[in-house]
Amino acid sequence: MQDPTQVTGFDNALAALCDRRLVQSMYGECDILMKDVLLTLHGEQHARRRAVELQLFRKDFARYYEHAVLPDIVAHTLAPYLEQGSVDLPDFGARVTLNLSARIAGLDIKPVTAATEDTELLLSIVRKFGEGATLFHSTRDKSEVRTEVARALAVFNEVFLQPAWERRLALIEVSAATENEATLPRDILTVLLSHQAEQGWDDALIRREVAFFMQAASHSSAAALVHAFHEITSWCGSDPGRRQRLIDDPLFLQRSVHESLRLHPASPVAWRVSDCPFTFSDGNSVAAGDAVVVALQDANRDPTVFGADADHFDPHRRLQNRTAPYGLTFGVGVHTCFGRDLAGGSLPEQQPSEGPQHLGTLTRILHKLFSSGAQPDPDHPPERATDTLRANWARYPIRLGVHSP
Ligand code: HEM
Repeated sequence: MQDPTQVTGFDNALAALCDRRLVQSMYGECDILMKDVLLTLHGEQHARRRAVELQLFRKDFARYYEHAVLPDIVAHTLAPYLEQGSVDLPDFGARVTLNLSARIAGLDIKPVTAATEDTELLLSIVRKFGEGATLFHSTRDKSEVRTEVARALAVFNEVFLQPAWERRLALIEVSAATENEATLPRDILTVLLSHQAEQGWDDALIRREVAFFMQAASHSSAAALVHAFHEITSWCGSDPGRRQRLIDDPLFLQRSVHESLRLHPASPVAWRVSDCPFTFSDGNSVAAGDAVVVALQDANRDPTVFGADADHFDPHRRLQNRTAPYGLTFGVGVHTCFGRDLAGGSLPEQQPSEGPQHLGTLTRILHKLFSSGAQPDPDHPPERATDTLRANWARYPIRLGVHSP
């Protein structure tokens, strides 16, 4: 196979992600989960699906989930660990984001106070979906992973999706009869079922789309949470003033989270395939069908955009132009992440002039952790994941201490 064309540098990567001649190609290894879901669609089909799903994400979606849904989930999930005085951060992040993504996807699971059987089962299923969606970077036997994903999808459907599906069909009927949409749950399953007939979607497609949303809304956020905690606590060192500032100045904490997001995009690269021959602005040419690798992590560390020390974590970094502080971590162009504002919040200049700030779920969760005295456990150093080529953390034991007022 011919080597893929590499797109490096921030400007080239940005242009490539916005180029409609380049088609998504990193998720073709796990069709059982990813076939024809939003992320893998292209052109007209993608635009149509995105327009329908946008109904969930417009207006106050991110603020609603940040202010009305997240706080309870974090409080419930954290409570037993606060008593215990310790927690494994990747596991904690997975539990918080699991509950949040279940609400976004449209499952009716109860908020978790402890490790219920349902939660453990759903957690294992969504972890398997995460493995399936990132199969491209897996170091495991891929056909084995595919079999496990198929099994997980079947259990997901029977235990979690079908009851939620039936409940929503009934609610949609009532809402149509009363012409009152306000009573409908704000989740993707409701949106999909409301448009199923008109769009001609079969049930299997809706199953995959909801499963994809479960993993899209949890996997990247959970990984980003641990990266941010690591970067921020390493930067704090033993300086109590720095730690205190993170608690007293939430916008500064958000800035620190954005800096970590810049350094650690969920995937270091985005793969595309060209659908026609063309020449990039840097002079590289591709034929139809050629593979193209957009080097996201490299772009996010481009010294011409982020400064000579772009490889380093610096929460005080100031950018000269209008580049987002998290770089290309949420993508740009037609596949821009639907969860960007939810996970990352509004940028400082877009914060509301009155009412609560919109900081994003990552900053809110970290703020709660730091206010609860969270710090790395010196007796149990963190460990990297070995089942993926992505530089994620598998275990990150932390201690919890002083409670916030
Ligand atoms: C730190 C957290 C997150 C990161 C770093 C992240 C990153 C990304 C990136 C890079 C893409 C584009 C992929 C590409 O162009 O190939 C994407 C797409 C997407 N993300 Fe996220 N994401 C995060 C959280 C979320 C959340 C919370 C949701 C749920 C609402 C979500 C839902 C989606 C969806 C539905 C797409 C597909 C969009 C499309 O193809 O049109 N993401 N995400």
